[in-house]
Amino acid sequence: MYIKMKNFIIGMLCLSILQTSCNDSSTQENKIPETMPRKDLHSFAIPNLSVIKHLDLDISLNFDNKTIEGTAKYQIENTTNANEIVFDTKDLQILEVNTESKTGITFTLDSANEYLGSALHIPIAATDKWVSIKYRTSANAAALQWLDAEQTEGKKHPFLFTQSQAILARTWIPVQDSPGIRFTYKAKVQAPKDLLVLMSAKNPVEKNENGIYEFEMNQPVPAYLMALSAGNITYKAVSERTGVYAEPEKLEKAAWEFADMEKMLVAAEKLYGKYAWEQYDLIVLPPSFPFGGMENPRLTFCTPTVIAGDRSLTALVAHELAHSWSGNLVTNETWEDFWLNEGFTVYFERRIMEELYGKEYTDMLAVLGHQDLLSTIEEIGAENADTKLKLNLKDRNPDDGMTDIAYEKGNALLQLLENTCGRENFDAFLNKHFSENAFKTINTEKFLENLNAQLLSQNPEWKAKIEVEKWVYEPGLPANVIIPKSQKFETINGILADFSTSKKVDKKLTANWTTHEWLHFLRNLPSDISLNDVVYLDNTFAFSKSGNSEILAAWFMHSIRLNHQPAFEPLANFLTTVGRRKFLKPLYAELIKTEAGKAFAKEVYEKARPNYHSVSRETIDAMLK
Ligand code: BES
Ligand code: ZN
Repeated sequence: MYIKMKNFIIGMLCLSILQTSCNDSSTQENKIPETMPRKDLHSFAIPNLSVIKHLDLDISLNFDNKTIEGTAKYQIENTTNANEIVFDTKDLQILEVNTESKTGITFTLDSANEYLGSALHIPIAATDKWVSIKYRTSANAAALQWLDAEQTEGKKHPFLFTQSQAILARTWIPVQDSPGIRFTYKAKVQAPKDLLVLMSAKNPVEKNENGIYEFEMNQPVPAYLMALSAGNITYKAVSERTGVYAEPEKLEKAAWEFADMEKMLVAAEKLYGKYAWEQYDLIVLPPSFPFGGMENPRLTFCTPTVIAGDRSLTALVAHELAHSWSGNLVTNETWEDFWLNEGFTVYFERRIMEELYGKEYTDMLAVLGHQDLLSTIEEIGAENADTKLKLNLKDRNPDDGMTDIAYEKGNALLQLLENTCGRENFDAFLNKHFSENAFKTINTEKFLENLNAQLLSQNPEWKAKIEVEKWVYEPGLPANVIIPKSQKFETINGILADFSTSKKVDKKLTANWTTHEWLHFLRNLPSDISLNDVVYLDNTFAFSKSGNSEILAAWFMHSIRLNHQPAFEPLANFLTTVGRRKFLKPLYAELIKTEAGKAFAKEVYEKARPNYHSVSRETIDAMLK
């Protein structure tokens, strides 16, 4: 079916080219623009022919049967006089289609591809300026997680949130679901009266009487940044243009944890130019949220597991905020260019953190990140094509290629560029990158072209030293990578070395350790530690009772490996409440290495699975099958 679709697209393009070349009198409008972007492998849309420009969404949220129903009306642009417009849909029921010139349009819905869903073909007249699609989501819409009241903090009201990246927007809105296609939107959402609704748009700060909320996003965004959340949600401003949404039980804690949001925003603007989205808020979601954070414009979605009570995990806020430039403003053209979103964002995140908390702090983040990079390369293999920055996602679910490589190898390349060309030169280049490409998409080739023209051409030595093509198109980690160092971690390395022989850690030495120091300690415990050592460490530092999700997850890895029984109850508890895939995946992977562990994993998963979002469910299903 996918093949058939591709042939169809090629057919359409050829037909159109034929028309223009055979007919001298053909107007300019009939031509495919010369700057035709590369086809996005993960969307059926043919934006060169007809493309969406604005969405008016009118939907209602039905918590009883867990569906969204309503109408998506699009303003369209059809400069090629195409006779149809193609949308992405997945598991959607299409109820009725109208266009400006005709009501009750006969549309076609292709048979479904496993992860891309079905192309929706809507015949249009050349003059049509809009199409409207009445639709209903299915109970298994992959983007949506409908939580019962018991699965929330307050336990009194249900909750709904979406996760659209990478290609799940099409499971809750019929849309041209490609990062290269941007549109503005307005939305009207009807919810049960006692819930507040929020979107990646201008948002309300309190509930109203009738449960109808209206939204506006005046900056064009791609579909993967469409987001919605509804629940018993309250708001607290942190500064004039930043604030936090959370269930009332979590609101004060969240506002305290993220008190530096405004400072982060100021630092970010100082680095790479004015914030383009006016307001920056964050919503703390229930713990089943499958990611740490998601950069939905104006409203970052965030896991409650970063609320550590000591502000130690707020680099995540800097990260999602940084996406307001790298990703949301300048967007990867296709998911094969994902590193342009995430690598830039990790680099930018650490620059913000350095501005606020200094070099010593960021050095720790950099070393931990570098370790993640080395572990990922070791895990998937240095020859694996997924260790290239430019991905090949042909016939694949983009989710399968999205690893730490985009984040940490991407960041490492930018670090190398900064180091070689000098921070001042590199910042000037990046500033230009963000202003010249604002509200546009960028692909790897275009980025390399700009980098060469605007930065590397200034000094031939830089180009030779960096070998940027090697970083982008070859697997593994080039030898010129800068290996980050942290003074604080060097001290811990000494303590770890002592522990190897003495089997003791002097508690006094750890008195002032922060989360990152503990993480370095836990991740670098000698590989030959015994169950006795683990018992000693737990008795001394009470890791199994830690309230810090990162420390807990790192500790559970050792506990599983050495079958440290006292950790298994807190582990089961963690796995049933937290749905963040980054934690779940390694823990389940470690568990299933033994028969007993596998039995435990299956038992826990049976209870935990209903609490997970489809993103995490898919991953863990595949591991435990
Ligand atoms: N955009 C990503 C999350 C994402 C990536 C969702 C790919 C779907 C597909 C977000 O910005 C992110 O990177 N989140 C990280 C946190 C960050 C601090 C590295 C996460 O969720 O762990
Ligand atoms: Zn990110």
